[in-house]
Formats: sequence, C-alpha cells, structure tokens
Amino acid sequence: MKKELRKAVIAGNWKMNKTPSEAKALIEEMKPLVADAKCDVVLCVPFIDIPAAVEAAKGSNIKIGAENVHFKASGAYTGEVSADMLKEAGVEYVVIGHSERRTYFGETDQTVNLRSLAALNAGLKAIICVGETLEQRELGYTETLLKFQTKMALTNVTKEQLKNVIIAYEPVWAIGTGVTATAEQADEGNGFVRAAIAEAYGADVAETVTVQYGGSMNAGNADELVAKVNVDGGLIGGASLKAPDFAKIVAAASK
Ligand code: PGA
Repeated sequence: MKKELRKAVIAGNWKMNKTPSEAKALIEEMKPLVADAKCDVVLCVPFIDIPAAVEAAKGSNIKIGAENVHFKASGAYTGEVSADMLKEAGVEYVVIGHSERRTYFGETDQTVNLRSLAALNAGLKAIICVGETLEQRELGYTETLLKFQTKMALTNVTKEQLKNVIIAYEPVWAIGTGVTATAEQADEGNGFVRAAIAEAYGADVAETVTVQYGGSMNAGNADELVAKVNVDGGLIGGASLKAPDFAKIVAAASK
C-alpha cells in the first residue's frame, strides 16, 4: 500500500444548503482557516451558488465543485445542467451518484456511469460515490456491491481519464446519521473499492487513485479515519457547513 502516491482530498458536500450570499460568507470564513492545507480542498455547492462560490474562492486554495451533472451535452432536458456549463462557470469537480440521488432521484449505476463519462470528457474531476445500505452489509454483500458499483461507474473510463476520478466510499447507513463507520470499516470499504480498480486497471494504477471516505466524518473523528492507509481524505456533508469544523478535518488530512 502506497498512501504517499495519492493526494488526500477533503471535499465538502453542501447538499441543499446555503443561498448564494450565505455561500460567499461561509467561503470567506473558511479561506484563512484552510490556507495552509497540504491536501486538496474542494467545496461542492448547489448549482445556484456556483458563481458566488467561484468568485469568493478566487485566489485561494479552495476549488469549487457541483453536486450533479447531466450526461447529455445539451438539449430538451428541463432542469438539468451540462458538464460544459459547469466547466465554463469555473467548476473543477463534480459529485456523481451520491446516495441521496440514488435514493430520491432514481440514479442508477448506469446513469452514474454516463454522468461520469460526461464529466470526464469535459475535463471535470469526478467524485463518484459508492456505498452499501445497512441491509446489504448485514446480508454480507458489502464487498460484492462496492466492487460492482465501482466497476459499473468506471465502464469505458480510460486509464488516462482515471487520473481525474476520485471514488468516495460512503456507507449509506453512515450518511447524515451521526453513525460513522469505524476507521477499520472505512479502511476495509475503501480497500474493496481499490481492489475493484486494481481488477479493472491493474494494481499499480489502483495505488494512485484517491479513495475518500464519507459518512458522518467530523472534526472529532477525522484524524483516525484519514490516518488509515486506504483513506485518502473525505467527502464531508454536515461538518462542511461549519468553517471551524471543516478546517479541522482539512488539518487532519494535512498531517
Ligand atoms: P455527512 O454526509 O457527512 O453529513 O454524513 C456525507 C455525504 O453525504 O457526503
């Protein structure tokens, strides 16, 4: 295991929180707190907040991401946003296949794959989410499911494009619940993701891919989680809405 081959990425996922003016204020508050980060720092924000967020983050080490992207380049898809639109707006990252989108908005492994390809083809970095439900874990399917979701998401993604892929292992039972996976469970889940990448692209390539953990990661547990060999940072929901907490997680990943 070669953790030093991969850069840790701490990405906030604001979900449906913060208006544009609130986004600006929160980023202004965060900027000095994360300025010395040794990991990459990303904030994935609602579409409508993107212009304000890009403007507020200008000149800092904070990169802006979106929370979804459509898989078609343009056309009659009311309410959707394309990868080129995001790119032109100054977005660098995009979350794809978050469990909330899979659960509430009919996202499937196939659409996750199509969205990933659209993002990568437009030159965006894709943060692709995978994760098992509690029922799937209790039935013993965690490894099978994580490998399947990872391989499905990466179908037709080239080795070159894989350099712009981050996988976030987010056990569904740990998202927004306050129940964090233990560091061992996070490391194991991330390890299954990495093993799937190794099966598809080779072990050497898999060692270079950033695999985050997400699910109730916070200022108190980040140290232990990001210290694990397979955990290359995190995708942070609730704790990314509070500047001091987010900064502590960034600091944990900077050690
Ligand atoms: P949480 O969300 O940190 O609030 O559990 C994580 C996520 O949904 O990405």
